[in-house]
Amino acid sequence: MSEKRLVLLGPPGAGKGTQAQWLCDALDIPHLATGDMLRGAVANNTEVGQQVKPFMQAGRLVPDEVVVNVVAEAIDEAKKTSPNGYVLDGFPRTMRQADALQKVLAKRREKIDKVILINTPDEVVQERLMQRRSCPDPLCGAVYNLKSKPPREEGKCDNCGKTLIIREDDRPETIRVRQQQYWHDTEPLIDYYQRKGLLVEINGKGSLEEVAGQILIAVSKIKRGPNRDSQRRKAIESESAAPEKDAENKDAEGADDAAPEAGAKK
Ligand code: AP5
Repeated sequence: MSEKRLVLLGPPGAGKGTQAQWLCDALDIPHLATGDMLRGAVANNTEVGQQVKPFMQAGRLVPDEVVVNVVAEAIDEAKKTSPNGYVLDGFPRTMRQADALQKVLAKRREKIDKVILINTPDEVVQERLMQRRSCPDPLCGAVYNLKSKPPREEGKCDNCGKTLIIREDDRPETIRVRQQQYWHDTEPLIDYYQRKGLLVEINGKGSLEEVAGQILIAVSKIKRGPNRDSQRRKAIESESAAPEKDAENKDAEGADDAAPEAGAKK
């Protein structure tokens, strides 16, 4: 299987976590969800957890530098067990995070293949978040919906039997803050990734299955860029002929990634 590095973008409650889980199962790649990682840190009362807890409780984004470090470590860990890529869910969420991600990947001579925007109107996501119930066990983390995906037994996780909870940030006033943060800080990434030719927009209003189907179609259309493929071919060819030339080719491949983006702060 070719490598796939995907980003799921969309407002809170668009269905990123649900769809990421299905997509990762289908592609057999890891699901790197910053919300889950940060909630895990809070639950374990780590230094990072103590730092981010007040932000998360208020529905505000945690500081960029904290989440960038968490993601960079997660990408390194994921590479050890899965060479085939990953799905980033909930990252990047600011222009600074997008810029940092590009730099993290450039160092590893990697690129994002596709950014999937699950476009879902505010009133739909509000309703979904009010109906969401979550498994509190960080190792399970199953997500339900009283309307669209109820548990088999009321209030109990199908997988581990734990009592389902309402996430602390799923209160109406906190949902509104999260939505405002999305429109202010994250929405500019739509244009940013569109200009890079990486964005594909999915209508998130459909059923779980309809949205999943659209995402799978988008992912199946990912092609390796001819430039990158030919560079790789050249590198392999020149490796046997002249190893020092190969190093030059590899530098050229990474140069585009390393270039800072216009408008991105860091
Ligand atoms: P995070 O956990 O990432 O929250 P979020 O982005 O607000 O997303 P959600 O998890 O609420 O929703 P989702 O899109 O995953 O939807 P889901 O699949 O659950 O982040 C939490 C906090 O961590 C942030 O507020 C911030 O403080 C911090 N944080 C995280 N990343 C950060 C970053 N990069 N930078 C800074 N801070 C960061 O679905 C929602 C519900 O709808 C479920 O009940 C589901 O069953 C249902 N549903 C889903 N799809 C459908 C459908 N198509 N039809 C019907 N129901 C559906």
